[in-house]
Amino acid sequence: KAHKIAVLPGDGIGPEITKVALELLQAAGEAEGETFQFEEALIGGAAIDATGQPFPDETLQTCRNSDSVLLAAIGGYKWDTLPAAQRPERGLLALRSSLNAFANLRPAVVLPQLAHASTLKPEVVEGVDILIVRELVGGIYFGTPRGFTTNDKGEKVGYNTMVYSESEVERIAHVAFDAAMKRKKRLCSVEKSNVLEVSQLWREVVTRVAKQYPEVELSHMYIDNAAMQMIRNPKEFDTIVTGNLFGDILSDEASMLTGSLGMLPSASISGAGPGVYEPVHGSAPDIAGKDLANPMAMVLSAAMMCRYGLALPQVAAKLEAAVTAALDAGYRTGDLMSPGMKQVGTRGLILLNGLI
Ligand code: NAI
Ligand code: MG
Repeated sequence: KAHKIAVLPGDGIGPEITKVALELLQAAGEAEGETFQFEEALIGGAAIDATGQPFPDETLQTCRNSDSVLLAAIGGYKWDTLPAAQRPERGLLALRSSLNAFANLRPAVVLPQLAHASTLKPEVVEGVDILIVRELVGGIYFGTPRGFTTNDKGEKVGYNTMVYSESEVERIAHVAFDAAMKRKKRLCSVEKSNVLEVSQLWREVVTRVAKQYPEVELSHMYIDNAAMQMIRNPKEFDTIVTGNLFGDILSDEASMLTGSLGMLPSASISGAGPGVYEPVHGSAPDIAGKDLANPMAMVLSAAMMCRYGLALPQVAAKLEAAVTAALDAGYRTGDLMSPGMKQVGTRGLILLNGLI
């Protein structure tokens, strides 16, 4: 039976990179005897222009009726003057929250062909393959009480609350252990339990959940040490699970190991119901429509969708291999160009198609 995919091309380079990703997905699926049924829907600026809403109800219904959601990017100059509440970005937040996507998966993989593009030494980053699982809808970004007050010296004070419940930690821990099972079976839980009670609870719950995954080797690390180890010896990490704030910082740090925005996929999943798979980069309005966009982050997002959303690891592997093969053959979009390589456009990377 066909796998139902809600496809949200969005704005800017979104439609261009979507086209390439769908063509490859189709080819990789055919090679493995799997069929996909794509249903396109509006989001972001394109949806505002057509319906007045950045995330129309019809789009939500399409997503809910699908096995997975594949999103490119939203936003652009045209909508930058709208008030915050009506901007394309709201569509993205509405999508993630209405699907209750509480787990954000961000891989940082350094391909040998691109190790020189990293800000770190090639020998430090070569072979890096990290998956960060970040809790996305709790922690200090959402905790209450929060606000401003005045202290007894009459000074203005700002405050937030870092709070996690057992069930919130449990569900993210399960996502992380499941992901680790599909990888090298090593999970590092990152918190600050030497200082924070919320982190003590985090460690307690993760340790408890670990009993259900005897094959996974669990370790614990304080966030400050983890941030340091990420730069000193990133190869020591396989899968990382952490809270919203620490994960925000660590995943941005990890992305810099790879040196290229155009290569980074992500997933936001709920554990039940469809997940959202999307590149980390935005809609790149500066290069939209010019056949300059690198479609690889989008292709790799489709690969994550196959691996984590559709349980099609063999299709995922085909897509990943196509990206590697194109790089091996020396094909580069402008953002990755270096001397001796062959520059191609977004469509040019459809040459990848022959490589599946
Ligand atoms: P951006 O990621 O769109 O672009 C940053 C720079 O990287 C630009 O120079 C762009 O040309 C380049 N770039 C990005 N993706 C690329 C690719 N695949 N291939 C080649 N070059 C690429 O971030 P920026 O400029 O801050 O935001 C532009 C618009 O995108 C804004 O409207 C912003 O709100 C939106 N945005 C949307 C996101 C999403 O849909 N998830 C995430 C981040 C920004
Ligand atoms: Mg961030």
